[in-house]
Amino acid sequence: MDGNGADGIPDALASRIDRAWAEIRRHGDYGRWQACLAALPGLVPAHIGLDADAVTVGRADEIADGPRQGIEAALRGLHPWRKGPFDVFGIHIDSEWRSDLKWNRLKDAIAPLAGRRVLDVGCGSGYHLWRMRGAGAAGVTGIDPMPLYAMQFAAVQHFVQDEGVRYWPVGIDDLPEGMPAFDTVFSMGVLYHRRSPIDHLLQLKGLLRPGGELVLETLVVDGDARTCLVPQGRYAKMRNVWFIPSVPMLEGWLARAGLVGIRVVDVVPTTAAEQRRTDWMRFESLPDFLDPEDAGRTVEGHPAPVRAVLLAENPA
Ligand SMILES: C[S@@+](CC[C@H](N)C(=O)[O-])C[C@H]1O[C@@H](n2cnc3c(N)ncnc32)[C@H](O)[C@@H]1O
Repeated sequence: MDGNGADGIPDALASRIDRAWAEIRRHGDYGRWQACLAALPGLVPAHIGLDADAVTVGRADEIADGPRQGIEAALRGLHPWRKGPFDVFGIHIDSEWRSDLKWNRLKDAIAPLAGRRVLDVGCGSGYHLWRMRGAGAAGVTGIDPMPLYAMQFAAVQHFVQDEGVRYWPVGIDDLPEGMPAFDTVFSMGVLYHRRSPIDHLLQLKGLLRPGGELVLETLVVDGDARTCLVPQGRYAKMRNVWFIPSVPMLEGWLARAGLVGIRVVDVVPTTAAEQRRTDWMRFESLPDFLDPEDAGRTVEGHPAPVRAVLLAENPA
């Protein structure tokens, strides 16, 4: 039987995480990423701000222009920055997503994070991990299988040095079933990438302690409890979008997965104020994914992105 290591992580999971880091070290871009991380100076920021819209690591007046230019070049080497923003010693990482807008829509609706053990599934660069820690979480864990995002997290952690915020470069399927280790689990922007959405909800439920809270954010369409868009081909140029339910159908899925206290806290169309091309993400972004003649449609003719945040609990 699988034991638990000193840090409480089941041995099999600890091995999986080790293997995931080893896979990253074999990635073709790893040498380049590592050079960027190695170029970051060993500065200890006097100011760390995890409760501001831009996660702030050091103020501009803490360092001279020379080192700042070196840090900026290193951070730009980790392009594309999709989730942010961050302010690093006065360098503003204007990411593709204004992830602060999503955070601001949900932060007052969720159970206060003070003292809670939190998991963020699909955490990207880790922007929300820092906001969760800033909201008082006792410990925050992020998982995401995309190697570049682990490097972006490492760049910020290089300066923050907070053992209470950890990053596992794995997907949710790598977590063991029945590890109810968390008081709050976030799944934001992940459900529509899953081929079996109810299985995803069951996985999330299995990670919550009894009475723990799920924060679910995903794409939705207008419609009744029998409406769900299953795009044939791409959705907003994304290949891996499987299910976009109506809010009532999503509530039904949560109930079917055994979650209780289900409530909708936000439904909002995604606009170019929130997702756009920037100097730190120079590829296509939302305006390129929408019909130029009708911003209510994607280029494929589907309803344009609308996102909902729902809360639910694992029964006590
Ligand atoms: C649309 S982004 C959302 C990022 C962030 N949660 C947010 O809401 O701003 C989806 C993220 O989920 C990650 N992801 C995709 N499949 C995943 C899986 N099976 N387990 C964990 N993360 C996954 C992707 O790599 C990506 O970073």
